[in-house]
Amino acid sequence: MSKAAGPRAVPVAELTPLEARFEHDALAREIAEHDVRYHGEDAPVVSDAEYDALRRRLEEIEAAHPDLRKPDGVSARVGAKPSEKFAKVRHRVPMLSLANVFTDEEATEFVDRVRRFLGLGEDAPLAITAEPKIDGLSCSLRYENGRLAVAATRGDGEEGEDVTANVRTIAEIPQVIAAPDVPAVIEVRGEIYMAKDDFAALNRRQEEAGKPVFANPRNAAAGSLRQLDPKITASRPLRFFAYAWGEIAGERPSASQSGMVEAFRRWGFPTNPLMRRCDTVEALLAHYRAVETQRAELPYDIDGVVYKVDDLDLQRRLGFISRSPRWATAHKFPAEKATTELLGIDIQVGRTGSLTPVARLKPVTVGGVVVTNATLHNEDEIARKDVRIGDTVIVQRAGDVIPQILGTVAEKRPADAKPYVFPTVCPACGSHAVREHDPKTGKEDVVRRCTGGLVCPAQAVERLKHFASRNAFDIEGLGDKQIEAFHRDGLVTRPQDIFTLAVRDARSLKKLKDREGWGATSAANLFAAIDARRTVALHRFIFALGIRHVGETTAKLLARRFGSAEALRDVAAAAAAGDEAALAELTAVEGVGPVVAEAVADFFGEAHNLDVLSELLAEVTPEPPEAVATESPVAGKTVVFTGALERMSREEAKAMAERLGAKVSGSVSKKTDLVVAGPGAGSKLADAKKHGVEVIDEDEWFRRVGG
Ligand code: IVH
Repeated sequence: MSKAAGPRAVPVAELTPLEARFEHDALAREIAEHDVRYHGEDAPVVSDAEYDALRRRLEEIEAAHPDLRKPDGVSARVGAKPSEKFAKVRHRVPMLSLANVFTDEEATEFVDRVRRFLGLGEDAPLAITAEPKIDGLSCSLRYENGRLAVAATRGDGEEGEDVTANVRTIAEIPQVIAAPDVPAVIEVRGEIYMAKDDFAALNRRQEEAGKPVFANPRNAAAGSLRQLDPKITASRPLRFFAYAWGEIAGERPSASQSGMVEAFRRWGFPTNPLMRRCDTVEALLAHYRAVETQRAELPYDIDGVVYKVDDLDLQRRLGFISRSPRWATAHKFPAEKATTELLGIDIQVGRTGSLTPVARLKPVTVGGVVVTNATLHNEDEIARKDVRIGDTVIVQRAGDVIPQILGTVAEKRPADAKPYVFPTVCPACGSHAVREHDPKTGKEDVVRRCTGGLVCPAQAVERLKHFASRNAFDIEGLGDKQIEAFHRDGLVTRPQDIFTLAVRDARSLKKLKDREGWGATSAANLFAAIDARRTVALHRFIFALGIRHVGETTAKLLARRFGSAEALRDVAAAAAAGDEAALAELTAVEGVGPVVAEAVADFFGEAHNLDVLSELLAEVTPEPPEAVATESPVAGKTVVFTGALERMSREEAKAMAERLGAKVSGSVSKKTDLVVAGPGAGSKLADAKKHGVEVIDEDEWFRRVGG
């Protein structure tokens, strides 16, 4: 890894022409290498942010020394998002992810939570399956009348890539399933992976052919599946384990998780032989240990054990929280560690101005992956661990999370290593970087933030990247690199500029054409992709605005509650102006607490944000969310549960009502529509009477909602 982009780098203005040339050459070589790994082989060894930092430095040097810019040089090339290659497939049943636990205690707590939610006593029987968590990529295989019709990757869980042609080349996956109990439509889901031996052999072949090698079997599997030419996929030894399913039309073959997997096995799918059905937590943990002991000898990579409630009816009752099922969790194996040298500390500026220290490491292999950078979290962490440049540090990598620095090896500290001094100015714009104080607690924030706001180019670029990113506007062909280029050229400095690019066509095209590989077709494709997003789901629109503390889930809640950007704006702007009732309306949104409400109000209280909003709304149309289960008889109603419930736990009742579009409240008022009362209900019954609210019992509740 070059040290050029690190904070110790000499400011570009101070480089002599000769130094500039040397550094420029080194950077260009390094970037070209990363390009090959990323675009050619699906096997990047640096994070996007790191790669961006390298490019930024190269561009700064070129700006100061224009003679170094070559028409065929690295800076003239704009990478293509690999995902542009495949058609999109919308999953009819979302492909979810799993929550993780790391210790026996957390695993036990998972089972306890399931019991509590279902209202099951400690001794009531509860079967849970345990099976290896395969380190590959998940895939959904749709069979219509027993024939493989569509195969799709997980993508963002809602929409994946159509890899049908490639999946047809995988020998282990049946093209046709013929059994009396195969439903008319069934989506069989599972993991595509590459066995360890096959991975090693593939890398040997790659090496012999002078091609780049893959970092690990998972990258090799992903890279092999996502090939435009199915012949290449066919030449790669991919395998499959079936462990889940999506849509089923017709009768499902079993009422249990283990029975479903058994049916997949009968139908000809490979299923994992290490799946066990356990009746106690002790049995689950014993199986976890047994799998962990075999891990090294298994012919494929695994990174934990997945626990799933076996009874499908209980799975249905447990439902989901956000994007993971309540009925399953992954018990991960402990993270792997290694030591290496800390070469430097870079400061990255995020979209909200946060300065994040990133450790630049001498490349080291941790758990089969080459690691060259790791997060240092924040200023206090660096001080607490007394991490100094030149130190030998302990690096930990757990699954997909960014590698972390656990600490230093004291004996190996160089004599001249000095404590790290965290910058107090923003490396991107030179503005002061400060640690704010929480007005209520008086406590200092752990994060130091650039105060440059709108003048800080790093923040502006990060905001734009967020705006166009996958879970926001998801504009194909407008990746991080393009945004940086457009921002540098002054073509796009605010989100709304994206939508006026085509109108400013003449100028844009000229600038675009100056870039190699950006002919009229690329520009036309980009304009078409931008046009395709002129209507966008409201929650994506809200998420794209980049309001602090408003992630995807909160954006969905706000979209559902307010139904339009204007409605949200009006309430939030009123709240910002001191209207208590408006602020209360924000906090009343299920899942929105005071911190989020304040951040939303702050955002809409800023005139420049309102300008962005109105200019954006002139260009794009956010689509209101489909109401949750509008056909349900309790949709839109405010419901209160009281007394002892016998057929479900209180938590389950709340989740069920919310799933059906109702709002659950803890107290009865004149706004309450329905009270569901069990034995022992007390003052709430009296309140219901007082306000004339309808009261029903649990059986009636189930009759109405069809449970
Ligand atoms: S079940 C609704 N079982 O883990 C839950 N997932 O973190 C569906 N994975 O995207 C997943 N082995 O790619 C399940 N035995 C297994 C698995 C497994 C690997 C992956 C899968 C999923 C990810 C979730």
